[in-house]
Amino acid sequence: MRKKTLRDIEIAGRKILMRVDFNVPLTKDGDIADDTRIRAALESIDFAAKKGASVILMSHLGRPKGAVDPALSLKVVAYRLGELISHPVRFIEACIGEEVEKKAASLAPGEVLLLENVRFYEGETKNDQVFARQLARLGDCFSNDAFGTAHRAHASTEGVAHLFDDRVAGFLMERELEVLEGLLAEPERPFVAVLGGAKVSGKIGLVKNLLDRVDRIVIGGGMAYTFFKAVGLEVGRSLVDEEYIPLCRELMEKAGSGKERQIFLPVDCIVASEADNDVPHKTVSTGDIPEDWIGVDIGEKTIEVFKEELVRARTVFWNGPMGIFEMPNYAGGTRKIAKVIADITEEGVMTVVGGGDSVAALNQLHLADKVTHVSTGGGASLELLEGKKLPGVEVLNDSG
Ligand code: 3PG
Repeated sequence: MRKKTLRDIEIAGRKILMRVDFNVPLTKDGDIADDTRIRAALESIDFAAKKGASVILMSHLGRPKGAVDPALSLKVVAYRLGELISHPVRFIEACIGEEVEKKAASLAPGEVLLLENVRFYEGETKNDQVFARQLARLGDCFSNDAFGTAHRAHASTEGVAHLFDDRVAGFLMERELEVLEGLLAEPERPFVAVLGGAKVSGKIGLVKNLLDRVDRIVIGGGMAYTFFKAVGLEVGRSLVDEEYIPLCRELMEKAGSGKERQIFLPVDCIVASEADNDVPHKTVSTGDIPEDWIGVDIGEKTIEVFKEELVRARTVFWNGPMGIFEMPNYAGGTRKIAKVIADITEEGVMTVVGGGDSVAALNQLHLADKVTHVSTGGGASLELLEGKKLPGVEVLNDSG
């Protein structure tokens, strides 16, 4: 681990200001739909509390744009956190100011205080120095366990960290970095990346960086159609990011052709008359997509081709669904690929899954614990694998 962690500093009797990512999905009624991110932070919180630190937690929830939005209060999270840990959890409806400072100062060792949503303050996303200094008054050392937000240079992730001598990674952050940076550094080969999702724009940087590092990239989902177009195939009314066609063409050329090619595109796909679950749909070969139809999933032959690559792999990274996964008729490709990835994990393949939709697919299929690592970071894991530096990580103390 290239950064110091909570294990490397003295924490007994100190006040730790800890950034966590409690940006959890909420139901329409405002309940927590999935508490994975809260659970993922428990190890660090518990470690610090048990060692006799008092823990002041900061997080964002949603994108309230610098104003108070009661629907995005972290109160509901404080309640859930209290159910999950054995240490007392307090909550305060603010992040800065005299009251908050008093409350933080009065915490006993082992007590946990969760602050209100940091994005209720304009200074947060602006990485405002004044706001960062106000937050820094609450603790005497800093830990960042919010891997999911590490790609944001915000006041509570980056600005505040500069104000502490001791600024270290939490254990979730440590695990995420070890696994994801490990993929870039020394993956066991063959290394296959499975990429999908609707838009090529969000993934093109990833394809570019991974081409130099992986043995194969198999591409499904909506993003495949821009690649089809780039190689001159007809795609009907399927999703295409016109402005990325030249870049996709360039990447296809770089990836080579024939058996040794690096990029594998679908050989068949399911097409539908509309992007709707209950309309006529059929399987066609790639290149035979009728003029008025839309590609909505990968076909059976493609699943076989992708599977062949996956069973030969020793390391696999998966991001993005293979079709319109939220519509049952077009979820088959994603489900089958998820199952293959779970099966090869059992055979000893290192499998890493990142990104909201592929993780949701795994959860739906109860396969999340059947892969080696499920990343809690969508954007953060993509940026890291694109080769970008994450500001929330870079600011932490180097180890050794
Ligand atoms: C996420 O859910 O990816 C992180 O919590 C970051 O959220 P953001 O995209 O609103 O910055």
